[in-house]
Amino acid sequence: MTPSWRLLFAWAWALPATVTGDHDSSRVCRALAETLPGFVAFPDTPAYEAHNAYWSARQSELRPACFVAPTSAQDVARAVRVLTKRGARFTVKGGGHTAFDGGSNMDAPGVTLDLAGLDSISVSADRRTVSVGAGNRWINVSEVLDPLGLAVVGGRVSTVGVSGLTLGGGISYFSGMWGWACDNVRNYEVVLASGELVNASPTVNADLFWALRGGGGSNFGIVTRFDLVSFEQGELWASTLVYPGTVTETLIPLVHDLLVRELPAAPAAHTFFVMAYVAALGGYLTLSDQFHARYSDILCPPAVFAPFHNATLPKLFVYTRLSTVSRLSLDIEQPRGMRQAWWETTVAATATPDLLLDIFSMWQDFVERLLATAAADDPTVTPFLIFHPIPLNVLGAMQVNGGNALGLEPEDGPIMIVQMNVLWTSAVLDDAIQDGLRDLVARVETLAASRGARQKNGYIYMNYAEKSQDVYAGYGEENLARLRSVARRYDPEGQLRRLWRGYFKL
Ligand SMILES: Cc1cc2nc3c(=O)[nH]c(=O)nc-3n(C[C@H](O)[C@H](O)[C@H](O)COP(=O)(O)OP(=O)(O)OC[C@H]3O[C@@H](n4cnc5c(N)ncnc54)[C@H](O)[C@@H]3O)c2cc1C
Ligand SMILES: *[C@@H]1O[C@H](CO)[C@@H](O)[C@H](O)[C@H]1NC(C)=O
Ligand SMILES: *[C@@H]1O[C@H](CO)[C@@H](O)[C@H](O)[C@H]1NC(C)=O
Repeated sequence: MTPSWRLLFAWAWALPATVTGDHDSSRVCRALAETLPGFVAFPDTPAYEAHNAYWSARQSELRPACFVAPTSAQDVARAVRVLTKRGARFTVKGGGHTAFDGGSNMDAPGVTLDLAGLDSISVSADRRTVSVGAGNRWINVSEVLDPLGLAVVGGRVSTVGVSGLTLGGGISYFSGMWGWACDNVRNYEVVLASGELVNASPTVNADLFWALRGGGGSNFGIVTRFDLVSFEQGELWASTLVYPGTVTETLIPLVHDLLVRELPAAPAAHTFFVMAYVAALGGYLTLSDQFHARYSDILCPPAVFAPFHNATLPKLFVYTRLSTVSRLSLDIEQPRGMRQAWWETTVAATATPDLLLDIFSMWQDFVERLLATAAADDPTVTPFLIFHPIPLNVLGAMQVNGGNALGLEPEDGPIMIVQMNVLWTSAVLDDAIQDGLRDLVARVETLAASRGARQKNGYIYMNYAEKSQDVYAGYGEENLARLRSVARRYDPEGQLRRLWRGYFKL
């Protein structure tokens, strides 16, 4: 490229995100149907309704002009060429698990590409790589791998998509040993904005490989296949404990201790900690879900989790078992078809558990206000506060192959991912719930800052973020600049930036 062309493209990149292309949605869909006969679903057909099934009701309410459901990477490329040539807006559905509306669906005149037809899964002869089509969900992968005694660093819940989870990061049962899902991709096959099909690995298009490791998909291209690292794995030890809300303040110091002390010494262990208000179960409850990939005694918990099993702690429910990844991923399935809001912030570990205890108390104030107002008329309103410990061993494992795009480094760790979710039914409550969550997140961030415990860059985990959160700012200035330059290199005319709206944009 000559310098003047580069300048022109840089200018195109800086244009405001207005679309001047073909707004006649039926024409775009007809053109797609001509190029990909049989793969386009129009409104008011059973095929369209099947594609329009999403985990969160906020997403399935949207009605695209049509769904395009290619079954090969070449067909994805053909669809992209039709869309970009006509300047037509589009989005892409992997497993469709984004909580917010517009994350992977859109209203007409937009078009949604559903990747579900890219459903191949193949294990290499040496058993070290599993090639997974981008439309698979984690259950499809584990149902192939479990019988072979293999596993990948993948999602924990069965119906979640391989694509979105891996592109945004990917917290797994196995993260203590190998990092996040994005750290265990050998190669991505990607359709670029131009319609060109390329690979991205440590040796081919290495800058794109880096960007796709946590940088999300919608700024770079449509991934059609992930080649994932696989490893030998039998059943895992797992324990689910549910406690009455009254012991949460006893448990939080144990969770803090796991983050800073216990988990780095037990890399095969993995856990998360959920506080919830569930009206149907009588109020506040706390759940500890524990996993160990190298332990098999169900009568005696591994030392790392022993304090949670202490007989002096009141428990409502204990379920300890050895289990395959598939069965575990079905156990922690979340209900479909509800309205969902997920917000996230990340705090650095402090010397004492006080910060976590104070976050819990702030969340309880939020819940009390919610119960007195919005939730009064909708008994399904269920608020959650979830702590995901990210100990030093996980941050260390992220540094392989030149590191990922997230900007998380062991020097700034350990960190706690703090997830604040609400599920509900009535759309009338949308604004009140979102305003309450926005305010809660702001308070938690201010509190953490006042204790010197904001994550250095203000990291927000993309896969748990609400659409108004500034996810990319939290990757740090240097990574953000690098991500922008990779996007410019692989999409010089800014087509994806203009046409693929609704998710986080650089
Ligand atoms: C019940 C539940 C359990 C979860 N469990 C975990 C967990 O254990 N660990 C964890 O880390 N996260 C977890 N998550 C969060 C999850 O990682 C995100 O919701 C993720 O975006 C889901 O991926 P998806 O493909 O299903 O989503 P989608 O909504 O389909 O996609 C997410 C984004 O990626 C884009 N995209 C999809 N496919 C492609 C592609 N092939 N190429 C380029 N861009 C693409 C979409 O356009 C969208 O912008 C969970 C979420 C839910 C709802
Ligand atoms: C993926 O798994 C689900 C649940 O077992 C199943 O219904 C679906 O058909 C599977 N998809 C493919 C392509 O095998
Ligand atoms: C169990 O809890 C009691 C009371 O807090 C404590 O004294 C004891 O050390 C605990 N035991 C274990 C194994 O953590």
